[in-house]
Amino acid sequence: MNSRDNKGIVSSGENMSFWIDSVRPPEFPALKKDINTDVLIIGGGLAGLTTAYCLLKAGKKVVLVEDGLIGSGETGRTTAHLTAALDDRYTDIEKVFGEEGSRIAAESHTAAIDFIENVVKNENADCDFKRVDGFLFLHPSDKEENLRKEFDATRRAGLDTEWLDTTHYVSATNSPCIRFPRQAQFHIMKYLTALANAIAKMGGEIYTSTHAEKITIKGSVCNGFNVLANDVVVATNSPVNDMVTMHTKQMPFRTYVIGARLPKGKLPYALWWDSGNMNTKWFTAPYHYVRLQEFDDEYDLLIAGGEDHKTGQADDEGINEEDRYDALEMWTRKHFPQITDVVYQWSGQVLEPLDYMGFIGKNPGDDHVYIVTGDSGNGMTHTTIAGMLISDLIQGKDNTWAELYSPKRIPVKLPGRFLSEAFNMAKQYGDYIKKGDVEEGNQLANDEGGILSKGLRKIALYRDKSGTLHAYSAVCPHLGCVLQWNADEKTFDCPCHGSRFSKEGAVLNGPAISGLEKITVS
Ligand SMILES: Cc1cc2nc3c(=O)[nH]c(=O)nc-3n(C[C@H](O)[C@H](O)[C@H](O)COP(=O)(O)OP(=O)(O)OC[C@H]3O[C@@H](n4cnc5c(N)ncnc54)[C@H](O)[C@@H]3O)c2cc1C
Ligand code: FES
Repeated sequence: MNSRDNKGIVSSGENMSFWIDSVRPPEFPALKKDINTDVLIIGGGLAGLTTAYCLLKAGKKVVLVEDGLIGSGETGRTTAHLTAALDDRYTDIEKVFGEEGSRIAAESHTAAIDFIENVVKNENADCDFKRVDGFLFLHPSDKEENLRKEFDATRRAGLDTEWLDTTHYVSATNSPCIRFPRQAQFHIMKYLTALANAIAKMGGEIYTSTHAEKITIKGSVCNGFNVLANDVVVATNSPVNDMVTMHTKQMPFRTYVIGARLPKGKLPYALWWDSGNMNTKWFTAPYHYVRLQEFDDEYDLLIAGGEDHKTGQADDEGINEEDRYDALEMWTRKHFPQITDVVYQWSGQVLEPLDYMGFIGKNPGDDHVYIVTGDSGNGMTHTTIAGMLISDLIQGKDNTWAELYSPKRIPVKLPGRFLSEAFNMAKQYGDYIKKGDVEEGNQLANDEGGILSKGLRKIALYRDKSGTLHAYSAVCPHLGCVLQWNADEKTFDCPCHGSRFSKEGAVLNGPAISGLEKITVS
């Protein structure tokens, strides 16, 4: 399979995740007419589909548009841990939002797992859903007293966690751990398929290969047709209706995944996370995350993730995108030596909010336009919370979670993090005076890309498999940063706010809403 096939965009990069490789996305037509509806939802990932499901249950008329295929965004690249063990730790959440905020965070993520379990039952969704335990253990750079503090904070937040003196089943660590009981896991593409079928059965209209632009409080232009709506939900992961405000409150990170075969019965189904590298140069500590998934009669797939870096800035640590898998495999073999061969590898993007909590609710300054973004590595539950919360907000119902997730909030309690990220951003504009990857197009082999520098002019080059050279402006159409070539996913990535573009110059991730300007080269 390719990132684009004859049905449309399947995924936002060259590598295919296990989920998309094992389950073909459900197919829907492209939009070819004007429509009036109650709610227009833009984005066919877990956020968009869950919101559509909740609104249809509430009796609303819903139209959902997706410019790739269902699950072609970050949802299809997830690892699908369903957990209230938040990677932006309860210790930190409590400092910013108080004990009550921390309690609501725990309550809402726990409710999201219950919601998914109910959908699985009510829609007979055959999606490998299982309740499993989760275990948070120490990264060697972290201290036991921090884990203790996190344990205490989880208890104050109302979670039924347990302190264990050893981490069972994980080799090469004698760390204590926190056990999170009754967490869960599923096969995301099977679940999305069940949601999409339920939406269609309730009369919801889904259109794929349908690009939304000119988003206003009255609707949007989709594939050139007018979709008029009373309310609009922008569920595009990075909100494409917002030029600046939201993108100063969150930062894009790339994260890497491998899937390795593991003889059945060697390990129990469970979720494991280490507490993250405290010596990192990034503002969030990259951590490892592991789970199992049924694979075939003989093997499970052990899915391990981590080795994160800010999008477009991998080289700042001296480890490029492709080499991150080697580091991840080494870590995985050390901690789970029972694995045999690695059969999958893929990467994806997560958006890290500066003040630890995601954003769900009215887009600042706009009535009738709602957004969901800033999921961190907990987007499966976060987007499910969004489905429930946005559906309540559109119906005018009070919801006690609304304030915690409000997109209006400003990270005033964390000026240090805000300033350090503002500095990182400003530094990216310095790329205008840096040398490019290549000096001539003929330095590129077939199926290779790079940035060519001609004075202040930056050109994104890609030589296709047949040897033809394609050239685009390497200036990001969002706010003008210089793009970087990602040789692993064969995309052009923006180091500022995470926009990404295919080797054909098409936009894959917002906030940019248009593709790269084509340049004629001799
Ligand atoms: C490697 C990885 C591992 C992860 N692991 C976990 C995990 O274990 N547990 C967890 O809870 N979370 C995890 N996450 C996070 C989680 O997967 C995401 O936060 C979540 O899937 C985001 O869903 P979404 O619907 O908001 O976005 P997406 O799935 O990206 O959906 C947005 C959709 O909008 C579409 N779109 C964009 N612009 C337009 C437009 N103009 N018109 C029409 N459509 C448009 C895109 O094509 C896309 O399909 C992980 C993420 C990654 C990358
Ligand atoms: S994503 Fe903002 S400048 Fe590129």
